Amino acid sequence: MATVALDSFVAELDRLQADAVAALAVAADADAVERARVEFLGAKSGRLKAIQKLLGGLAGPDKPAGGRHFNEAKQAVAAALEAAQGRVAGAAATAEALDVTLPGEPVRLGHLHPITQTIRRVQEIMGRLGFESVDGPEVEDQWHNFDALAIGAEHPARDPLDNFYLAVAQGADPLLLRSQTSTVQIRVMERRKPPLRIVSLGRVYRPDTADATHYPMFHQVEGLFVEPGTTMAHLKSVLRLFASSFLGGDVHVRFRPSFFPFTEPSVEVDMEWGGRWIEMGGAGMVDPAVLAAVGYDPDEVSGFAFGLGVERIAARRYGVADIRDFYRNDVRFLEQF
Ligand code: PHE
Repeated sequence: MATVALDSFVAELDRLQADAVAALAVAADADAVERARVEFLGAKSGRLKAIQKLLGGLAGPDKPAGGRHFNEAKQAVAAALEAAQGRVAGAAATAEALDVTLPGEPVRLGHLHPITQTIRRVQEIMGRLGFESVDGPEVEDQWHNFDALAIGAEHPARDPLDNFYLAVAQGADPLLLRSQTSTVQIRVMERRKPPLRIVSLGRVYRPDTADATHYPMFHQVEGLFVEPGTTMAHLKSVLRLFASSFLGGDVHVRFRPSFFPFTEPSVEVDMEWGGRWIEMGGAGMVDPAVLAAVGYDPDEVSGFAFGLGVERIAARRYGVADIRDFYRNDVRFLEQF
């Protein structure tokens, strides 16, 4: 093989690199870029290939330097090629995007889950009535889920079959996934003095078999109002105002006598909307024993509390017949809200 001087080998590479970069810079479309690629980087008869063959002619001690120069030039040309390919592809896309003769395509935006929308709407309506939104933990102790709510040690509501108890170390206090948001009433009253107007929306858990009206996890709206002189009339007005803002139009609220350990008297709340009565949840005047348990003086303040099912009011508002649909994550269903 003919001997090649390192100087002229490098000069040859420099020329090739300059030519390639210039050609690629002016290539106007994908075809021109491809022609340049074949000319400079083509595997069979590209100019780079031709120069590669000269490597063997370099004197032994010059070979490492020659190889290094060769690789640098090759990388520079490859980078210029990539840039040119990107540029013409972008230009083609822009040209297409600007084709005003194409028919329009709808842009599909995501949105919040209907239950989240419902929660925000309830918070907003209750906020206008002066109720502050608060949160509480989903993993609770027995004190907040039962004892402080006057649910005694022998009460069936504590049954392991009706609650999700968590495995805790032997001898430690049992913990459970809260079965109601009334826990938050206690947490707030323990920390603050009356007057209080709070609303808490969150997940609760009960080991129910899933069907059209039950799910082992669901959401409740808990309201608590504590002020001197509070009566059932205030409770009814607040629920009626809430229901007519949420459902729209004229809504009637009906109380049926009921029992909860932490309210006295206790009621079930029904709402009539569009000619039908539906059960929304429970409510009542906070039991004086509960007020005393958190250090309030039941002779000074009284209060009301209510707990409504979020899925129920959402199902009512949107006309959903099966609450399981809320959790199937079927986009065709969720898209409708
Ligand atoms: N916590 C009760 C339930 O889950 C509902 C309720 C809340 C009743 C507040 C009275 C007062 O059924």
